[in-house]
Amino acid sequence: MIVVEDVHKHFGGFHAVDGASLTIAEGSITGLIGPNGAGKTTLFNVIAGVLPPTSGRVTMQGEDITGLPPHDLFHKGLLRTFQIAHEFASMSCRENLMMVPGGQSGETLWNTWFGRKRIAEEERALRAKADEVLEFLTIRHIADLKAGEISGGQKKLLELGRTMMVDAKIVFLDEVGAGVNRTLLYTIADAIKRLNQERGYTFVVIEHDMDFIERLCDPVICLAEGKVLAQGTLEEIKANEQVIEAYLGTGLKNKDMIGA
Ligand SMILES: Nc1ncnc2c1ncn2[C@@H]1O[C@H](COP(=O)(O)OP(=O)(O)O)[C@@H](O)[C@H]1O
Ligand SMILES: [Mg+2]
Repeated sequence: MIVVEDVHKHFGGFHAVDGASLTIAEGSITGLIGPNGAGKTTLFNVIAGVLPPTSGRVTMQGEDITGLPPHDLFHKGLLRTFQIAHEFASMSCRENLMMVPGGQSGETLWNTWFGRKRIAEEERALRAKADEVLEFLTIRHIADLKAGEISGGQKKLLELGRTMMVDAKIVFLDEVGAGVNRTLLYTIADAIKRLNQERGYTFVVIEHDMDFIERLCDPVICLAEGKVLAQGTLEEIKANEQVIEAYLGTGLKNKDMIGA
């Protein structure tokens, strides 16, 4: 689905991504792991159009998407989740989902004057869809709560929910489990698995929690110092000498992450 070829991203003289090449198979839940500072988030941002690469190429289903802005990628079904923006915190969770652009006609003046009936119908459909998404994510009960008032884990689920308001093909998740309690972490993992199995979403997941990676991801790709070190099952990755060395070389905290 996605092919990354020799991507570099430099910040001044610093090579955050340093010739990364990888392939994301359609229908997979691919895990991206690596020590802190490995370049995972930067690589995500390059693929998702948030940052232009210094060099290299990204293709999606054979089409060159290198450097396309997030908006264009969104319409192609490539989504990266973002934290719920500050200005949306005072809106309800349902409204936050309804805000996700999806070709509503309520936006133009023409439609405001001439399409009231259609707008009302579309709004009803959007509302129903938002509620269906909340139901799927087991958070129907927070529909009317303000997005700024829900727990960290519920926010993560809501962010995931935003990807369900459009026809996503591939979704990039950067540390969805960070700061989330175990129960919610498993709810999130379950939602990802079901979206993958029932709706055919492909996922790429950055996560430090190896338990979470183990439950979900095959294959797992390990990045270190901006380069892909290894790709395989989590067991293979954990047994890989280069991977262990990369984690060991970056200190005790990183070492614990992989259980080395
Ligand atoms: N905008 C930036 N300007 C300068 N350096 C950056 C920038 N973004 C990230 N970096 C650096 O690039 C390296 C990789 O960062 P990042 O992609 O966030 O790693 P990871 O997500 O694997 O922890 C880090 O050393 C970080 O400090
Ligand atoms: Mg990161």
